[in-house]
Amino acid sequence: MTLDKNDKLPYSDADPCWLRYTKNESLEGIPRLAKITVHGSSEQIRSALAELVYGMTEMTGSVPETAEDPNGLEANVVRLVQFDEALPERLRELAPFHDLHEEGYVIRSVPENGGESILVAGKSGKGVLYGTFHLLRLMQTGDLRSGLQILENPRNGLRMMNHWDNMDGSIERGYAGQSIFFKDNEFVRDQARIRDYARLVASVGINGVAINNVNVHKTETQLITSRFLPDVAEVAGIFRRYGIALFLSVNYASPIELGGLDTADPLDSRVRAWWKEKAAEIYGHIPDFGGFVVKADSEHRPGPFTYNRTHADGSNMLAEALAPYGGIVVWRCFVYNCLQDWRDRTTDRARAAYDHFKPLDGQFKQNVVLQIKNGPMDFQVREPVSPLFGAMPETNQMAEFQITQEYTGQQKHLCYLVPQWKEVLDFDTFARGKGTEVKKIVAGETYPYAHSGMAAVINVGDDPNWTGHTLAQANLYGFGRLAWNPDLSEEAITAEWIRLTFGKDEKVYQVLRSMLAESWRVYESYTSPLGIGWMVNPGHHYGPNVDGYEYSVWGTYHYADCRGMGVNRTVKDGTGYTAQYYPENMERYESPETCPDELLLFFHHVPYTHTLHSGKTVIQHIYDSHFEGVEGVEAFIERWQGLEGRIDAKRHAQVMERLRIQLAHAREWRDVVNTYFFRKSGIEDRHGRPIY
Ligand code: GCU
Repeated sequence: MTLDKNDKLPYSDADPCWLRYTKNESLEGIPRLAKITVHGSSEQIRSALAELVYGMTEMTGSVPETAEDPNGLEANVVRLVQFDEALPERLRELAPFHDLHEEGYVIRSVPENGGESILVAGKSGKGVLYGTFHLLRLMQTGDLRSGLQILENPRNGLRMMNHWDNMDGSIERGYAGQSIFFKDNEFVRDQARIRDYARLVASVGINGVAINNVNVHKTETQLITSRFLPDVAEVAGIFRRYGIALFLSVNYASPIELGGLDTADPLDSRVRAWWKEKAAEIYGHIPDFGGFVVKADSEHRPGPFTYNRTHADGSNMLAEALAPYGGIVVWRCFVYNCLQDWRDRTTDRARAAYDHFKPLDGQFKQNVVLQIKNGPMDFQVREPVSPLFGAMPETNQMAEFQITQEYTGQQKHLCYLVPQWKEVLDFDTFARGKGTEVKKIVAGETYPYAHSGMAAVINVGDDPNWTGHTLAQANLYGFGRLAWNPDLSEEAITAEWIRLTFGKDEKVYQVLRSMLAESWRVYESYTSPLGIGWMVNPGHHYGPNVDGYEYSVWGTYHYADCRGMGVNRTVKDGTGYTAQYYPENMERYESPETCPDELLLFFHHVPYTHTLHSGKTVIQHIYDSHFEGVEGVEAFIERWQGLEGRIDAKRHAQVMERLRIQLAHAREWRDVVNTYFFRKSGIEDRHGRPIY
């Protein structure tokens, strides 16, 4: 395998994020790093080789030699090996292939001829590619040692990114520039950013990417037509080299809008035939097309309800069309009444996903997977975990998270979400008794799902640093790592990211580690209190507006009056939502005595004078947390200031600029929220701080 000019990395001059290979003295003079041999010929192993050559060249200062070595006779080399029939016995014995899943890998030190080789082996080219990125991480962080014995298999089968990119170049809920895929209702012609994007996400194990918004508008509806399929196929080709399957979000009404039919009824034979033909056409262009992501009957999108059909009918019809090619349907459960009457206290948006989908358990085809948002509402800074996880033993499930910071500061505020995601993944549903955590359900370990895993709405755009806020890169990295292995600790992920992105300076590490670890709770403390959520400006969702969504159609209320606030979701005398949980959780949430403070107002309507487990009253908690939140941001600024000169001036200044915006806006949150509740309740702050 010889590399050519197309394999020259990186492809663009965008920020390399964590694929930043700087000269590393610890690697100098290690003989085995002078040569790489390859067994295998897949496109992914070629990418692995290109990555390794590039990374090693940058880190050691000299270009490693590359060679074919079909019999594995060379010693003192880095050896990339993809399992196949032709693999000689000698190499077969070096790696425990039987312990590997299709995408897993081993990295092993192999003593030979008085020296030592490093073996990176997988059953597939993808496995070798993931192993190569792991090896590069070890080199970058200075953790490359003798005696390596690493074996990794991904815990989640589906590790997906959902782009909410529109073809005009805009990104719904995007805070980092324009789309890297689309511009002016066409595909971008310069694909350099797409190539570097594929490298970035593959390096953390992502294996599926939906490139367009779940709200599929007019032009995007045509992505599955001959007008755009050649372009889609080109992007799929870029992805393929990095082991990523391309998915498209599709418009449920396509048979009407594209096919000239008068219906999209999933049980209509013409509709079924239309989708089957469509699938054949798509797979004619992209043989390894991943499948469809579908938002149906949600926020005014078309869906099977129009025809009095269920979501099982709707998704199965698409699944049937994709099944012959191995494609899957990722069907979103974000289905709720978005035209609610705020005076109506019986309808509870939080109940919707469970109420719609739970009764359908067992009716979905094997290649349908339900994609469930982490919480029952909509990616708020704090929500309980969706009770739908674990409630459908017979139906494939996957979790949907939001990396893009729609409600968590829009990449102007620092809000590291790995701690939040860890809480969700570690949440015990009790679906099968104690120890049935969400991470096991979505990994397909609790019930034997045919397809399952984790997806997230991504936070990248064409900004030079990809994510707007440089530190928001950590969320992208962290999601990928958790999707690969949800048992990784927050600390381990954070440490990796900091060292890869900012190098080995201990002070930089300490400061960043603490800022990242605190940032989610800091953000929570100056925004909406105790799990109630929302309180943002309608539409763009940025900035404080306590009543912004109060008297609207969206089902997102706090019900604050002069006495108290919160939503009564109990079985006893509320909406009955708590009954959607298994008994252990139901009981915990049902009583204000046992409900955790941070979710109190999500589950209960209480007076401002209600005493929390913390010992504070609700109103005093609101005041205190809002003052503390702002102080938290002030402390970030001070700590970040102390890093001047220790990291490059450009990134230092960029982050500082965002922190200053965060401080100004945190103050506004504090004052708006505190003032609102002071005026509503008439209760003074015990510490007499300024409230307006
Ligand atoms: C939120 C978000 C929308 C998005 C929707 C979804 O409501 O604000 O922009 O379309 O979620 O997940 O479908």
